[in-house]
Amino acid sequence: MIKKCLFPVAGYGTRFLPATKSMPKEMLPVVNKPLVQYGVEEAIAAGMDQMAFVTGRGKRAITDHFDISYELEHQIAGSNKESYLTSIREVLDKARFTMTRQREMKGLGHAILTGETLIGNEPFGVVLSDDLCLNNGGDSVMAQMVKLYKQFRCSIVAIQEVPADQTEKYGVIAGESLKDGLYRVDDMIEKPSPEEAPSNLAIIGRYILTPDIFDILRDTPPGKGGEIQLTDALLQQAKNGCVMAYKFEGRRFDCGSVDGFIEATNFVYENVYKAQ
Ligand code: UTP
Repeated sequence: MIKKCLFPVAGYGTRFLPATKSMPKEMLPVVNKPLVQYGVEEAIAAGMDQMAFVTGRGKRAITDHFDISYELEHQIAGSNKESYLTSIREVLDKARFTMTRQREMKGLGHAILTGETLIGNEPFGVVLSDDLCLNNGGDSVMAQMVKLYKQFRCSIVAIQEVPADQTEKYGVIAGESLKDGLYRVDDMIEKPSPEEAPSNLAIIGRYILTPDIFDILRDTPPGKGGEIQLTDALLQQAKNGCVMAYKFEGRRFDCGSVDGFIEATNFVYENVYKAQ
């Protein structure tokens, strides 16, 4: 039912310099797979087959990753190394890829609005691939959110509880608890101080958005940090109608930070790679 997934990948990745000076942070490998491929596989597992990338300067490696490499294919065809290409071949078979460029880094909200041309007038998923979400054996986080979308037909944000001293890194919600782990949002603040934070429920990098978000974003002035904030547009959407927040099942690693990246690498090596 939701076919398209948007990947805003135009950010600078300053927290990972110098590794990200000429390489997109989304191409950093967790064990042997780039972060962005985990995100695409999660979207495919949720039934999506059109991956839309909002890229920027210096991000060509992402476009190349989701294309055929003729030299490589030719070189290893028929050899015992072919199996190393299996996972990316599967991804290329199962999905189509479109790209557009965000010319100026004006924030996540602006990146999403830039993606309108690839999405059109339909609900869509959003994956921030520096958040790696894993639910070993169970439904992928995006698949869990698609199930909820079928029930509520409104935008959904994935949340997790964070320690009070970390609210400044996230958008934070407040809302009416409908059942365990599910909230109807009535307030939302981008990167609040612990004193300002309306709760400790932080938005992580998974969303399902209804397309009215584009009109709202067009009218959203720059907010925190002078950027057009998706959080501000989502609050407006919640006021107009409904936004749900969902405490997902599974684990999330903040791979935009060095600590989260190392944690993810150790986890994937022990629980996914070695278990293959
Ligand atoms: P972040 O602020 O976490 O990512 O943006 P960043 O700017 O890449 O990383 P740091 O903080 O400098 O280390 C959240 C997401 O929004 C995208 C980023 O690519 C990231 O996935 N983004 C952000 C854009 O695509 N465009 C923007 O203008 C801003």
